[in-house]
Amino acid sequence: MNIDQFINGYDSIDNTIDSTKPKKVKPIPKIINGRYKIKRVLGVGGMGMVYQVDDLLLHSLGIDACEFAIKVLNSEASTYHDAELILVNEYLQANQLHHPNIVPISHLSLCNESQRGFLVMPMVKGELLSLLLESPFESIPDNERLKYAYVLINCLVHCHKRGVIHGDIKPSNVLISNNNEVYLFDFSISRNVNPEYNKFAIDFKNVHAWSGDYAAPEVLQGNAPTIKSDLYSLAILLYKLLLKTHPYQQKKDISTHRTKEEQQLHLLLLQAMGAVPSERQMNMKALLSIIKSINTQQSKTNNISALKRVTSIFTKR
Ligand SMILES: Nc1ncnc2c1ncn2[C@@H]1O[C@H](COP(=O)(O)OP(=O)(O)OP(=O)(O)O)[C@@H](O)[C@H]1O
Ligand SMILES: [Mg+2]
Repeated sequence: MNIDQFINGYDSIDNTIDSTKPKKVKPIPKIINGRYKIKRVLGVGGMGMVYQVDDLLLHSLGIDACEFAIKVLNSEASTYHDAELILVNEYLQANQLHHPNIVPISHLSLCNESQRGFLVMPMVKGELLSLLLESPFESIPDNERLKYAYVLINCLVHCHKRGVIHGDIKPSNVLISNNNEVYLFDFSISRNVNPEYNKFAIDFKNVHAWSGDYAAPEVLQGNAPTIKSDLYSLAILLYKLLLKTHPYQQKKDISTHRTKEEQQLHLLLLQAMGAVPSERQMNMKALLSIIKSINTQQSKTNNISALKRVTSIFTKR
């Protein structure tokens, strides 16, 4: 089904409904369109509900890789008129992108049984970065933090090169797979610098979907996200990931405990967090080079401490 068919189908379902009243929403069946068998809920967000499914068609052909993730709007979001177009927007924006660390959307479809739209995408088996950052049980090793930062910077550079503004950069929109790969996802409130691609983007005045911890001040005031607001959110995420504290919460005297590189990182990230978008800058080259130099230093220190451990074993003997 292409986008036109989706929209036409959608219009014919909805043109009997008074747009001022929330529409009635049918539940998603256990097997969607006779093809996708729901196995479990993978997660629920402010707008979406994501299920793990088995693709019965691929399964019947003996293809092992038949697990996917399917996103529908959650019960609250789907009651609003035109809400399904959020999925069309997500499909359109994500399809501008081709990056190994960005979850692609395989296709956009309509559930025959419930007449609700859905997106099919590869399932990432792993954990949300937000959970890993807050977990009292496991701490992310420093070299992994640097790797995640490096990948996320590259992902956002890729989005912006293709004109896509993610619009909702935050740790709960980043998945870390069980084999430690980083994936940026959730383009539901994204938009494009090219107005042609914004036909289905949400009306930002009426939606307050952002997290106060990561969204830029102008976005929280109801303005549409921009490249500059993405930079603001990425800077906060990187701050939390690499300097291990949220920039809004850090204590004033913390700089004395930081290395020279960490202080440089702090200053670079602050430049991207300016209150006024036009004054915001993120020097990606400088940022990547600091991340690299911290990484090199850490591996040297790790090598030295590993050497010390080995020598101490021999000296003990
Ligand atoms: N491809 C995927 N593989 C595995 N889990 C996923 C995948 N996509 C989404 N999820 C899970 O579903 C949850 C909700 O997805 P998503 O973030 O896209 O919804 P949302 O409602 O747009 O989120 P938000 O609250 O950020 O607006 C995620 O937090 C994650 O746990
Ligand atoms: Mg999300």
